[in-house]
Amino acid sequence: MATQLPRRLGSALALVTGAGSGIGRAVSVRLAREGAAVAACDLDGAAAQETVRLLGGPGSKERAPGGNHAAFQADVSEARTARRLLEQVQACFSRPPSVVVSCAGITRDEFLLHMSEDDWDKVIAVNLKGIFLVTQAAAQALVSSGCRGSIINISSIVGKVGNMGQTNYSASKAGVIGLTQTAARELARHGIRCNSVLPGFIATPMTQKVPQKVLDKVTRMIPMGHLGDPEDVADVVAFLASEDSGYITGASVEVTGGLFM
Ligand SMILES: NC(=O)c1ccc[n+]([C@@H]2O[C@H](COP(=O)([O-])OP(=O)(O)OC[C@H]3O[C@@H](n4cnc5c(N)ncnc54)[C@H](O)[C@@H]3O)[C@@H](O)[C@H]2O)c1
Repeated sequence: MATQLPRRLGSALALVTGAGSGIGRAVSVRLAREGAAVAACDLDGAAAQETVRLLGGPGSKERAPGGNHAAFQADVSEARTARRLLEQVQACFSRPPSVVVSCAGITRDEFLLHMSEDDWDKVIAVNLKGIFLVTQAAAQALVSSGCRGSIINISSIVGKVGNMGQTNYSASKAGVIGLTQTAARELARHGIRCNSVLPGFIATPMTQKVPQKVLDKVTRMIPMGHLGDPEDVADVVAFLASEDSGYITGASVEVTGGLFM
C-alpha cells in the first residue's frame, strides 16, 4: 500500500503568483496536495483557472469561497493591482494568505551592449518590483490581522553568479535575495518568515526559449547531469511553507543539481 505524505499545510491558505505555468503551477499542485487552499494568480487568467482545475479534490471550484481553491488574474508589477489582489483573496477566503509564493517572472535576454531600456525596465518591474508589491501587501495583511506567515520568493542562481545576456534578469534576481533578507529581518518579530529559493535550470516554458545549444552546454556543467523539474522546486517551497522549516528565515536555498555550488 502506498504511504501517504502527512498533510503539512492543512489549515494554510497559499497565494501563488505565476501559478499558470511551470514552477508556479507545480508549487500550486504540491501545496494543495499538502492540504493548503490555493489562491492561484497569474497575468494569464485562463492559465490560472487551468491550474485550479488541475488541483482537483473535493469542493474544488474556480471562484467559490466554499471551494478549496480559486483563480485570480493580476499583473503583479502594478501597485494598485497587487493591492487589489490581496483584497480579493481575503474577500474570497475570509482571511489573509499565510503562505505567499511569488513565482511570477519573465526574461527579456540581450547582451549588455545592446539591451534596451525597455527590456531592463520590464524585467525589473515584474521580477523585482512585483515581488516587493506582493510581499508588502501580504505582510501588511498578515500584520494587521495578527497572523503568522511564510513568504517564499523565487529568485534564481543567476542572481548570485550572473549569466551571459541577462544583466536585467540577474540584477532583478539578486534584488529579490536582498529584499527577502531585509523583509526577514523586519518581519520576524511579527512571526512572518521570509526565504528565497534559487533554482538553477528547470525545464519549464521559460527555459524552452533558451537555444538547445546553450541548454546542452549548461547541462554538461550540472553535476547531476540534467535540468531540474518544476516539482524539484515545489518540494523545497513546500518545506519552507511548513513548520518543518520553523526556525529558517532569510535563507536562500539553491535548487540547482549542484550547478555553481
Ligand atoms: N525555469 C527556470 O529555469 C528558472 C530558473 C530560476 C528561476 N526561475 C524563476 O522561477 C519563476 C517561474 O518561472 P517558470 O520557469 O515557471 O516560468 P514560466 O514562464 O513557465 O511561468 C511564469 C508565469 O508567470 C506569469 N507572469 C508573468 N508576468 C506576470 C505578471 N506581471 N503578473 C503575474 N504573473 C505573471 C506568466 O504568465 C507565467 O504563467 C520565475 O520567477 C523565474 O524567473 C526559473
